[in-house]
Amino acid sequence: MNLPPFKLERYFAKYEFNTQYLLCSSDAESMPIMDLLALEKGAAEKFQQVWLGYTESHGSPALRAEICKLYETIQPEEVLVHTGAEEAIFLFMFAAFKEYDHVIVHSPGYQSLAEVARAAGCDVSLWPAREENGWALDLDELRHLMRSNTKAIIINTPHNPTGYLMPRADYEAVHKFAQEKKLLLFSDEVYRESEYDPATRLPAACDIGDHAISLGVTSKTYGLAGLRIGWIATKNKTIYEKMASLKDYTTICNSAPSEFLAEVAMRNRHRLVERNVGIIQENLKVMDDFFSRHAGLFSWVRPQAGSMAFPRLLKGNVEEFCDRLVKKAGVLLLPGSMYDDSRNHFRLGLGRKNLPPAVKKLEEFLSK
Ligand SMILES: Cc1ncc(COP(=O)(O)O)c(C=O)c1O
Repeated sequence: MNLPPFKLERYFAKYEFNTQYLLCSSDAESMPIMDLLALEKGAAEKFQQVWLGYTESHGSPALRAEICKLYETIQPEEVLVHTGAEEAIFLFMFAAFKEYDHVIVHSPGYQSLAEVARAAGCDVSLWPAREENGWALDLDELRHLMRSNTKAIIINTPHNPTGYLMPRADYEAVHKFAQEKKLLLFSDEVYRESEYDPATRLPAACDIGDHAISLGVTSKTYGLAGLRIGWIATKNKTIYEKMASLKDYTTICNSAPSEFLAEVAMRNRHRLVERNVGIIQENLKVMDDFFSRHAGLFSWVRPQAGSMAFPRLLKGNVEEFCDRLVKKAGVLLLPGSMYDDSRNHFRLGLGRKNLPPAVKKLEEFLSK
């Protein structure tokens, strides 16, 4: 297995815990344990009694029952809980693929969605989202990427890093294509429920058929990355069993305190969503104003969901720009090169409460 460095994670490792303003985070604002427990009467007392032994490998029944409420048809035995979404991505790729399989992956994207497939021996074709089309994917291109050994399509909507939300007709067409061609569809839905207009929310892939696997996590929309609780939901028993079996070689089971806290979070997820999407909406107003003041310097495709956008610097080199910005002003933006983007984009995070002072610092930096 050959896994090159995860560029984005290495960049964050350098700056995340020593920079004042993180203006490129993908997760929504978090909270202390105390505030999460306060969402539910009696939860603080129950938390003290959490048993610190091994937990059920598939995830606690109570947590899986809460996770099922995200879906229309999924039963607890169709949910497999992991340590973050990252573990689930890793196990899926090794469960589903073998050497010389071909997979089609939404691009640009979260590196492990393509990289772990490559490490599992797959030939990866990138399916490009284009800024000039509002970051849409072209279904004709998907048809052209198809080969006789294609095993899966991997999509991410709402999308990291562009905030693109696939229109329902396109989403249905991708599912139909996967079903007709007997492909797996791995649907990274870690930003689901953060749509600015809830009416635009797509059905979860796992509810559509047993060709699909939905990926979820507490980190992003719900702002609880420190729990490290992610999951897959699928009606595909073969994939489920293979992933469950591989998990015995990675984490065996999940952290008991985290499972309890995740259960409380998922039971109260509507309140977390309201809080976090509220922060994002306020921040979007600040960014709309900022980009209209600096239209000559940046291009701005407004996201439709999630806690990120992928604007473009129109003058100069974005890597140098981000480097000077973090060193001189203590504001972190993420250059698009971390996504192998060569067109001067950068990732902007919209989920943090301190976005307004961070933007003020950015603007002071620009004025110098
Ligand atoms: C699209 C996408 N999938 C999966 C993950 C992994 O989530 P976690 O770090 O919570 O495991 C991320 C994290 O940034 C992501 O953006």
